[in-house]
Amino acid sequence: MCPKDEHLKRPALSSQFKVAGLTFRNRVVLAPMSGVTDLPFRQLAWRFGAGLVVTEMVASRELVGNAAESWARLRSSGIDPHVVQLAGREAYWMAEAAKIVAGNGAAVVDINMGCPAKKVTGGYSGSALMRDPDHALSLIEATVKAVDVPVTLKMRLGWDDQSINAPLIARRAQDAGVQMITIHGRTRMQFYNGKADWDAIAAVREVISIPLVANGDVATIADAHEILRRSGADAVMVGRSSQGRPWHAGVLAGAAAHPDIAGIVSIVEEHYAMMLDFYGADIGIRHARKHLGWYLERFAPLATSTEKAAIMTSTDPAAVIARTIAALSAGAVSLQETDAAA
Ligand SMILES: Cc1cc2nc3c(=O)[nH]c(=O)nc-3n(C[C@H](O)[C@H](O)[C@H](O)COP(=O)(O)O)c2cc1C
Repeated sequence: MCPKDEHLKRPALSSQFKVAGLTFRNRVVLAPMSGVTDLPFRQLAWRFGAGLVVTEMVASRELVGNAAESWARLRSSGIDPHVVQLAGREAYWMAEAAKIVAGNGAAVVDINMGCPAKKVTGGYSGSALMRDPDHALSLIEATVKAVDVPVTLKMRLGWDDQSINAPLIARRAQDAGVQMITIHGRTRMQFYNGKADWDAIAAVREVISIPLVANGDVATIADAHEILRRSGADAVMVGRSSQGRPWHAGVLAGAAAHPDIAGIVSIVEEHYAMMLDFYGADIGIRHARKHLGWYLERFAPLATSTEKAAIMTSTDPAAVIARTIAALSAGAVSLQETDAAA
């Protein structure tokens, strides 16, 4: 088989893959993104055919303390399997939170060891856990022991270039009972700078036999094939390229077609209504602004700053959505152009 046909040996993005006893419907996963992948966004992405969607990270200690925001983050309806991501720095709280989410319908508990935010790493959770593998493992072991559902792990390559330890942690996590590992091909110190190193993810593939998901800078179908080729991963995860297009994971997986502009307008209307319903009008209007901004950026790049400011500052939902639809309808770029820019 010549190199150009190499992809024929690999399963199609549209094919199912199995994790523990669960079957995921395709190999394109929507990344957990705090402030983005709330219930409305996940419901849309799921409906458009994403292989798997993951909640925003839920802070374990806050959830055990019954924080309303934590409960809102783990809500699910119509999404199967329901995957909840937990963050934390202490085994006890992670285990207790895992019991709560599994008891409330989570089919998978994912552990966050990738978040680079100072607010999170300052508390030694997120990617800071990678600096202390023994401690990270105690937390993983406690979570696995606490629940009957599969536990998965998402992390970066390491803390910095001098401490690339994802393979070591991945191997130990597998031995501790973790059932799937996702690697974002950057170090913590890179934050989101530079380019994700898809080749470096292959070092994790070499040491684990459980399913591996590769993540970082995947925007197109060609990217998805390339990251799988270079990393040897079983599935791909997409984050920022889905902002302003909740259908994107489904399109990459071959489960949905790009909507035309009429379709986009109707999705934006529905998304807005879902957000107002989920958060209530006051908070919903504010949370929805970033999504409207992304839709406009992608599909109405010619909208004026005056138009955008009116949309971003209005507190009247009917006016906001009417102005957004007008801008999208007037300023829509052709879908071919959008595809090329993807
Ligand atoms: C706004 C935002 C919020 C994020 N929140 C989380 C999170 O809650 N949990 C997590 O594991 N990763 C989080 N991430 C990281 C993404 O899951 C993903 O690993 C990263 O964006 C790289 O993928 P991409 O290049 O496809 O965006 C977040 C990323 C962004 C941009």
